[in-house]
Amino acid sequence: MRTGSSVKVWLAALAVVAAVVLAGCCERCKFQAKEKGKMSVTKEPFGQADGQAVELYTLTNKNGLRARIMTYGGILVSFETPDRQGKLADITLGFDTLEEYLKGHPYFGATIGRYGNRIGKGKFTLDGVEYKLAVNNGPNHLHGGIKGFDKVVWEAGGFENGQGVGLRLGYVSKDGEEGYPGNLACIVTYLLTNEDELRISYEATTDKATVLNLTNHTYWNLAGQGEGDILGHELMLAADRYTPVDEGLIPTGELRSVKGTPMDFTKAMEIGSRIQQVDIGGYDHNFVLNSGGGTMALAATVYERGSGRVMEIHTDQPGVQFYTGNFLDGSNKGKGKVYNKHYAFCLETQHLPDSPNRPQFPSVVLRPGEKYETVTVHRFYTK
Ligand code: GLA
Repeated sequence: MRTGSSVKVWLAALAVVAAVVLAGCCERCKFQAKEKGKMSVTKEPFGQADGQAVELYTLTNKNGLRARIMTYGGILVSFETPDRQGKLADITLGFDTLEEYLKGHPYFGATIGRYGNRIGKGKFTLDGVEYKLAVNNGPNHLHGGIKGFDKVVWEAGGFENGQGVGLRLGYVSKDGEEGYPGNLACIVTYLLTNEDELRISYEATTDKATVLNLTNHTYWNLAGQGEGDILGHELMLAADRYTPVDEGLIPTGELRSVKGTPMDFTKAMEIGSRIQQVDIGGYDHNFVLNSGGGTMALAATVYERGSGRVMEIHTDQPGVQFYTGNFLDGSNKGKGKVYNKHYAFCLETQHLPDSPNRPQFPSVVLRPGEKYETVTVHRFYTK
């Protein structure tokens, strides 16, 4: 039994490492030096975490959009897009150095796993077995636990394909990590296309039934990071319903209509237009996407009038957590700016919170032999 299971770990680990290294091989021989138009993938050392070297990759597409991603936490460190005058600005919150990330932060730009969002009381039952997870948010489990995917060093390899430039990240999460069952092999791929899309794809396999809900936790400010609050941004969410939560932000189980409430963004509205009526200090809610998940569909459009920047989010996930940086309080200083309350928003595409304890919600169970695959596309343009 033991031998069988460690062989599986090895196979899973090898598959992930091979996938990222094969892709990375092209990057090492070609891209460091080569440029095709303005398109490029480069990497540089970014320090050490847990005694492991951390690298920072820069992806630049042919229009000059630039994403910087590091191997610690699979974190999107910065993302530069043009405003309507063509002037580039970094529109994501974060830090200039690895040391600042290591001191702790509210998931800026991070890859979140194994479970984005909360699992009530940090436990769930699967196939008759109760699993106890690391508890790190009051009595609940949040964003993968104490050492989630946002705090591990990933294997990485840059690549170029017909669509643009990318980075593939691989990580094998061990059976029992943060309390989750199964050795889980994950690949996260960032692709910056020449159509000005940032596509984030997730793949995973397991050797034991488990639950999984991967997402990305980038904090966006389309006016530029640190350039004031996001209350004037206009938001459209393709969601007629949301999941009301209790005081611990755990869904009550109800899927409630947004109609006539401050949750209604079915028509574009300024984020700040009704935020005072939201009693938990701003938005921190999961919206149930009308698509139901399973096929790619437009989930959200955000527009910032001053810069003209628009971000569309397309996903195959059934939900999206809309969070308005309610816990930012000015103590977060990054990339030369102070981050006050509401200085950014997050739109974390995902399954509904606490799904492992809610049989009526779409399933988040992954079984051996199945492949977890999901994609979220951020499309950028100006108007
Ligand atoms: C998520 C949660 C929020 C908060 C942030 C990080 O979006 O829903 O409640 O924990 O992450 O601070």
